[in-house]
Amino acid sequence: MNQMNYYTDGWPLLVEMCPCDVHFTEFLEARNIKNASIFHFGTGTHHHVGIRCAENGSNNAVLGITASTQEIEAYTKLAIENPKLSRSYKVFFGDIYLLDARLLPEFDVVSLFHLCEFWGPESATYQAMTDLEMLNLLTDKTKAGGRILFYTKSMAFDRAGPLIAEWAKTRPVEREGEFKTLLVYCKK
Ligand SMILES: C[S@@+](CC[C@H](N)C(=O)[O-])C[C@H]1O[C@@H](n2cnc3c(N)ncnc32)[C@H](O)[C@@H]1O
Repeated sequence: MNQMNYYTDGWPLLVEMCPCDVHFTEFLEARNIKNASIFHFGTGTHHHVGIRCAENGSNNAVLGITASTQEIEAYTKLAIENPKLSRSYKVFFGDIYLLDARLLPEFDVVSLFHLCEFWGPESATYQAMTDLEMLNLLTDKTKAGGRILFYTKSMAFDRAGPLIAEWAKTRPVEREGEFKTLLVYCKK
């Protein structure tokens, strides 16, 4: 069996190259989404989504997942230095393709900007879920009326796009529209 697919480097905030996290918080603010529970795939070293939600008065609670040791170290430092922030912003280290439904609550908003970007053949050696299985699991964990968001400029959108179209035919979701670079679905 291979080791878990993980990364030792982290991703800084590069808004020109990858604006998804900034567009996400702009979306939440534009839609006036408050007091929501949010699942966020891929925190970056910057932890923009969790920090912004903790500081903008929205009272949104964010659970982030990262497979980067540098990003989880950055979160550990952030939590130690900002205990108040760490109440509503929590991050765990792990492979999203190894999520266990029994350990997750239901969310109002789920961001899956990196769908199809990081699954590799080695993931199969430890029975990781496929992208569709992971998407279905998180759809089941989205509340009725909740939103699931994708990133149209993802480096894997050529694969994620058709997968999303297939998924939308089989799950109780409908396309709400686009917000900047994000594609928004609503769960019925
Ligand atoms: C390209 S970075 C983008 C980070 C951030 N969303 C941004 O736009 O700045 C990809 C993110 O996905 C996370 N990631 C990659 N593969 C993962 C996996 N299998 N499970 C969980 N997180 C993963 C990385 O740790 C990283 O946070």
